Amino acid sequence: MTFPKKGRAADALLAELEARKANDVRWQEGRVFAYIYDAGAEAMDVVKKAYSAFLTENGIDPTSFPSALELERDVIAMALDLQNAPPGAKGSFTTGGTESILLSVKTARDHARATKPHITAPELVLPETAHPAFFKACAYFDVKPVITPVDPESFTALPGAMAKAITDQTIMLVGSAPSYAHGVIDPIAAIGQMALKAGVLFHVDCCVGGMYLPFIRKLGADVEAFDLSTPGVTQMSLDFHKWGYAAKGASSVLYANGELRKYQIFAWSGWTGYTIVNPTIQSGRSAGPIAGAWAALNFIGEDGYLRLARITQDASAKMCAAIREIEGLKLLGNPPGNLLAFAAEGFDIFALADAMKAKGWFLQAQFAHGPSPANLHVSVGPANAPHIDAMLDDLRAETARLRADPQYRVATPSEDEIAAITAMEPADLLDAMESMFTGGTGGMPDEMRPINTLMDAMPFEARDRILKEYINRLYAKPAGAAADT
Ligand SMILES: Cc1ncc(COP(=O)(O)O)c(C=O)c1O
Repeated sequence: MTFPKKGRAADALLAELEARKANDVRWQEGRVFAYIYDAGAEAMDVVKKAYSAFLTENGIDPTSFPSALELERDVIAMALDLQNAPPGAKGSFTTGGTESILLSVKTARDHARATKPHITAPELVLPETAHPAFFKACAYFDVKPVITPVDPESFTALPGAMAKAITDQTIMLVGSAPSYAHGVIDPIAAIGQMALKAGVLFHVDCCVGGMYLPFIRKLGADVEAFDLSTPGVTQMSLDFHKWGYAAKGASSVLYANGELRKYQIFAWSGWTGYTIVNPTIQSGRSAGPIAGAWAALNFIGEDGYLRLARITQDASAKMCAAIREIEGLKLLGNPPGNLLAFAAEGFDIFALADAMKAKGWFLQAQFAHGPSPANLHVSVGPANAPHIDAMLDDLRAETARLRADPQYRVATPSEDEIAAITAMEPADLLDAMESMFTGGTGGMPDEMRPINTLMDAMPFEARDRILKEYINRLYAKPAGAAADT
């Protein structure tokens, strides 16, 4: 698209925007089990209106826009209340889980710089199930990630392994409640005790659980300690834009001891312009996401979140029970909530992802890593609940079909093939893959199995190099090309 010479009519361009969604996953039908957090049309409408009402207000300057400041204070206070924070706890509103985690790691690094001058090469100790956002934070802020193994059956962190990884350079430990991949909760209380003993900070990643676990606990689910009242837990990430059902761009980083938050703040008045004082990464920012989150929390309320959690838990429990019974599938770990993952035994799990996609269901493929085999991830939400039986019927039928057909056995590339592929330049490999799997169109094939199989077998560093090249190309394509994918 070239820059328009003349402005266009609103009706026409808004219609075009709607039409552009044609090739997106059809989440409105409740058949997408990732990315979408849908509390129903009424809640979404309230959030949209609240977001739009604050679209133009700028969170950059809380003295000029006290409305944005007050809404943020409210939203953070509600999150702290939900997480049983001790008196004096503080937090900040951020654009997403990733920003919350980036800020938490930066805070830990700057806290160490200020209070532990012997730390010259800061280290973050984290289980191999921790979200990539921590690795991004380490890359951005020059902190060394020290990765520890998890239990091969439960996929939860091993406190003993974490204890061994602590050195005099450790600034923080990480645990997840729950981790995204398998939906299981790390032993937060035990890790908290270790953090206290070692005198280091401890971040609980509650991005996906922060607006869900408190409610299922109230409903009687057996959920171990995870919140800000747990001894040793110093900080947490909690997303409103996941099971809080706020518009995307809404998360929080919370500190049990509010004193820590000062290490997060950046100020710069040493230039010719206006004074910058930013608690978070963005400077100029719409107050829309804050208003959207404020509206979601107030509109849905505890009674609403409990109702949604009950519907979601019932659907999730049904899915876990079914997967445990379907011959050829294996539920990974013992997820207490609404995120789960399952592997295939005796046939190719990536073929099942394609088969389910052909039936209109989106399940998220996850590569093998450490003790975790290649699997499909499922995030269950209330909007999926009415469709669980239909989904399970297709899952049963497709699993039986693929298991019975030898062409769907796992086809692992040989070591030589992998070595040859890994040695190639990412650009050359991508060219070869594109022409092999898509006939050179550059789009995504309907069958992702061959690509997934190849990628799954590669060392993850090689895979990441290819993925970076792929994304770099994807965004360089002319408008409309992405629609072919
Ligand atoms: C446990 C966990 N941490 C962090 C994140 C990153 O959140 P975001 O996508 O909002 O940046 C996610 C996203 O699903 C998550 O599940």
